[in-house]
Amino acid sequence: MPKDHEWKTFSEWAKTYGDCIYFHILGQPIVILDSLAAAQDLLNQRSAIYSSRPSLVMAGDLTGFSRGLGLLPYSPRFLSLRRLIHKELTGNMLQKYWPLHEEESRILINKILLDPALFLDSIRHYSGSVILRVAYGYQTAPENDKFLVLAEQVMGAFSLASQPGAWTVDVIPWLRHLPSWIPGMKFKRTAAIWAKLHMQVVDAPFEWALTHQDSSLLVQPNFVSTILSHSPDALSEDDRDLLLWASASLFGGGADTTVAVLSTFFLAMALYPEVQAAAQAELAKVVPSGRLPQLSDRPSLPYIECVMREVLRWKPIAPLGLPHLLTKDDIYRDYDLPAGSIVMVNVWSILRDPLIFPDPEEFRPERFMNDKRALDTVACIFGFGRRACPGVHFAEASMFIAIATALSQCNISDPINSRGERVRNDVEYQTGTISHPEKFRCNITPRVKDGVLKEVSS
Ligand code: HEM
Repeated sequence: MPKDHEWKTFSEWAKTYGDCIYFHILGQPIVILDSLAAAQDLLNQRSAIYSSRPSLVMAGDLTGFSRGLGLLPYSPRFLSLRRLIHKELTGNMLQKYWPLHEEESRILINKILLDPALFLDSIRHYSGSVILRVAYGYQTAPENDKFLVLAEQVMGAFSLASQPGAWTVDVIPWLRHLPSWIPGMKFKRTAAIWAKLHMQVVDAPFEWALTHQDSSLLVQPNFVSTILSHSPDALSEDDRDLLLWASASLFGGGADTTVAVLSTFFLAMALYPEVQAAAQAELAKVVPSGRLPQLSDRPSLPYIECVMREVLRWKPIAPLGLPHLLTKDDIYRDYDLPAGSIVMVNVWSILRDPLIFPDPEEFRPERFMNDKRALDTVACIFGFGRRACPGVHFAEASMFIAIATALSQCNISDPINSRGERVRNDVEYQTGTISHPEKFRCNITPRVKDGVLKEVSS
């Protein structure tokens, strides 16, 4: 099993073994799907048996992440949580969040222009703020927000806890039953600390929302208030628990993903100035000078739409998606796939198929112009079947307006070194469920003097 960037090794294996690769790790069967066709055949067409999640002892059971939607096995509780979230994040419900996206993206660009060197921190703040507002109606403080600081620590803990192969207890689950004072059981003490931290992140903003329903500090609309307004009576224990975990799942699913995508956007703009110029030219034609882009402009900005798709394709932030679990023996083509197999899709490899995306390492938004096959393929970044990302449309609105606002207000270019020379960014992406770029620098300058500042403060 490769130790890092597994998707690259799996992609090599696929050249030898084909698009449906099967192997064991200490008796655990694993299937890697390396083509869109195979992923759709199994995870979409046969979703009834490919929609559970493997149990991760360290990240799931011991630290409690398996109580949120993302790691929950297919079960009645999964269906209830998913229904609750789906209702709020699809169709007409989404438009009510447009003002939130617009306002937060202006705050983001404002922050970046005030302190360009900290643009990555500002992106992180933006992503967390959007989700805390939509989930709980909580408006974050500009600096050192108590919930964001806590969430940051938990994201770090999740990344470490869910690292494949890092924890012996994931392979030998009975180790969890040994007392924590025995040598070698340090993982139990670590898990206990993370579990406590995790519960604080789940409980604290939820308690805040419950106790601030009549407060002027609560920002509407938000998920918790909407659900509460449909339940005039006091919540039952079960309903309260569902709402608690549904709102926590929004946070878990939405915050880190958006950070990775927007960071990649800044990297791409610095590396491809001609793309940035073309996007800015499109904006100039559609958005009158003196006004900021709005989500209602989105249908008139097809090139920027393609820029967003290309950001998602060029550096897929979840290169292997989230693992699915096969719950019944199955036969695919000539293969027997046993129940209990962990099934992963090599999204990274699919989005580098040179037949659909020629010169895949190049950042070329126009590859999506009028190309339905390319558009259908890049959709795999949001997953498959009954587990596909329920936040997809919300995420797109949030990313689109942040990208359009950045393009309208900033010029982004390569960083400048102490000798005043431009330095080309050569950025590695991290191994992990969410693959972030390593820290990098950009040169960011305002395009319009005080343009954003005026609108945000008004
Ligand atoms: C660019 C941004 C995003 C990307 C690329 C992304 C991608 C994904 C992927 C690949 C999955 C797993 C799909 C599967 O198992 O087949 C997923 C699940 C999920 N996402 Fe997203 N996501 C993004 C943003 C968001 C946002 C903004 C939210 C919430 C507002 C969200 C909420 C969730 C939830 C709750 C799940 C778990 C679904 C389940 O297990 O049934 N995501 N996402």
